[in-house]
Amino acid sequence: MIIDWYPGHMKKARAQIIEILPKVDLVLEVLDARLPVSSSNPLLERLRGQKPCIKILNKKDLADPNITRAWLRLLEKQQQVKALALEAKDRRDVGLIPKLCRSVLAQRFKAGKPLRVMVVGIPNVGKSTLINTLAGKKMARVGDKPAITTTTQQIDLRNGILLLDTPGILWPVLDNLGGAGRLAASGALGEAAYATLEVALATLDYLREHYPQQVKNRYQLEDLSGAALSLLEQIGRGRGCLVSGGEVDLHRAAEMFLRDLRANKIGRISLERPTEDASAFDQYQES
Ligand code: G4P
Repeated sequence: MIIDWYPGHMKKARAQIIEILPKVDLVLEVLDARLPVSSSNPLLERLRGQKPCIKILNKKDLADPNITRAWLRLLEKQQQVKALALEAKDRRDVGLIPKLCRSVLAQRFKAGKPLRVMVVGIPNVGKSTLINTLAGKKMARVGDKPAITTTTQQIDLRNGILLLDTPGILWPVLDNLGGAGRLAASGALGEAAYATLEVALATLDYLREHYPQQVKNRYQLEDLSGAALSLLEQIGRGRGCLVSGGEVDLHRAAEMFLRDLRANKIGRISLERPTEDASAFDQYQES
């Protein structure tokens, strides 16, 4: 079903992170709260070493709050990691980040030294939105610093924190079909990169197991026991995705279903659960 693999981008991302990491004090890794494993990249964990990291579970408004709480507990078990769930446009949520940075880097802060922070993550997790909210009206470029790179600028948040104004971009790992399918379902991949129908069917299968009531409510279905394809057919028929002759246009039905999912119309859904995916994080720690 999936999808392209981009070794060129990966190499560039790696070089960029290797260059910048030693020059920052703390990494803000932005993950998608709905799929914290698949929206992470093990490269960062390997390169970060003992550098403190705050893992942001962004888009918490789209994710199942119980599952997000469970992820936060699990993430905080990693070394030198604090975890926070938020909505990147919400100033109150984002306002918690500077406090957490100052507590993680308390010694440096007390010594009056600036806390140099960079935001990293795969495309579409909300890095730019987060930087904009963090910078807010107080945004003040402080110009090129030789300590960083010739092209990277910093924003003085005027609360002890210097933030790199462009995020570090990691590439999503697409060599695992399940994870790539979840990334596609979340909207993190361009449509040309995956097969819509297959992604919709796999997602529908997952939703009927974990969120049956929400699927029933959204599509007025009473019984979810058939094959995913026949469920999608019922959904498409109910929503008028038909071609001439009255047959269901499955591709349109799949697109509509994925649009509903991404727009929160089926409700708050987490696509990964810690019980199933915790081992993925353990592997990152060991490698
Ligand atoms: P990136 O820099 O990591 O690539 O991500 P970016 O900030 O561009 O955000 C990607 C999409 O995710 C944007 O939507 C953005 O509005 C949305 N987003 C970011 N944070 C949150 C959040 O906490 N909750 C929700 N629901 N969405 C969030 P878009 O449709 O691509 O653009 P637009 O609607 O903002 O125009």
